[in-house]
Amino acid sequence: MKILVLGSAAGGGFPQWNCACPGCRRARTGDPLARPRTQSSLAVTADGERWLLLNASPDLRAQIQANPAMHPADGRGVRHSPIAAAVLTNADIDHVAGLLSLRESQPFALYATPRVHRVLAGNSVFQVLNPDLVPRRGVALGEPFRPADAAGAPLGLEVEAFAVPGKVALYLEDEAAGPGFGSVPEDTVALRVADPAAGTAFYYVPGCAALPPWLADRLYGAPLVLFDGTTWTEDEMQRTGTGTKTAQRMGHMCMSGPDGSIAAFAGLGIGRKVFIHINNTNPVLLEDSPERRAAEAAGWTVAHDGMELSL
Ligand code: MLT
Ligand code: MN
Ligand code: ZN
Repeated sequence: MKILVLGSAAGGGFPQWNCACPGCRRARTGDPLARPRTQSSLAVTADGERWLLLNASPDLRAQIQANPAMHPADGRGVRHSPIAAAVLTNADIDHVAGLLSLRESQPFALYATPRVHRVLAGNSVFQVLNPDLVPRRGVALGEPFRPADAAGAPLGLEVEAFAVPGKVALYLEDEAAGPGFGSVPEDTVALRVADPAAGTAFYYVPGCAALPPWLADRLYGAPLVLFDGTTWTEDEMQRTGTGTKTAQRMGHMCMSGPDGSIAAFAGLGIGRKVFIHINNTNPVLLEDSPERRAAEAAGWTVAHDGMELSL
């Protein structure tokens, strides 16, 4: 199984269009230690030809252009895409807006929880993906399925979606609904993606607000986990003057400190730990920062665009 990191940044990317924080300034000047990143998405393949997209970022068009494996293949006619199907982990803008770049009458299958499908169905712009060409397939929590292309041919992968701590998409938050803003389990899922023929599997968890014992047990000993790397500290947005919300309030787990992901993952015996969905304010993006050194010393890799992993 091959895994290609199409994008590694959180919503807004790095640099973010309206951000003049120190990291974004460095990324904008071409500083080689502050490499730009697009918004998070992975592509996975078992056969090296047909790819499963995990989330569709607003930067998808540029991501396809930057990765030859995503280009139309030679000898397949005037219209072709290696992208055979997509799975969504939530309805956040940074994970669904790229679907609009997949219009132009190209067949592919779209997998998401019924809740996320309802959100898309409630927004008429997504009707640009003609259901005759882009079948919507529902994903039940905790039930592994074999993703297939639009015509029903399996991709040789198995995917299981399961709910993780998080919240509904920002634009759907219902303040009146209380602490969870009206969130339901189907709003934020993690994915276990397996290549059953090869006997390998990894976890993709781009949005997660906490690591309760059941989730730590679930990830224990996995060969590869790509995990929510949104912020370094809980109060990063306030600290950098870029916002008022805590990481928890945004549905994310910070990296540092006793309640952070670095501490929570210590001792889980995971083969490769990779941070992804990294916000532009996170100093871990800066290759000469003490935070980057600390994350790497704890066994983490900070994902970058174009990174390839294989299992
Ligand atoms: C998030 O990860 O918290 C969201 O993508 C935020 C957003 O919608 O910009
Ligand atoms: Mn996001
Ligand atoms: Zn910034």
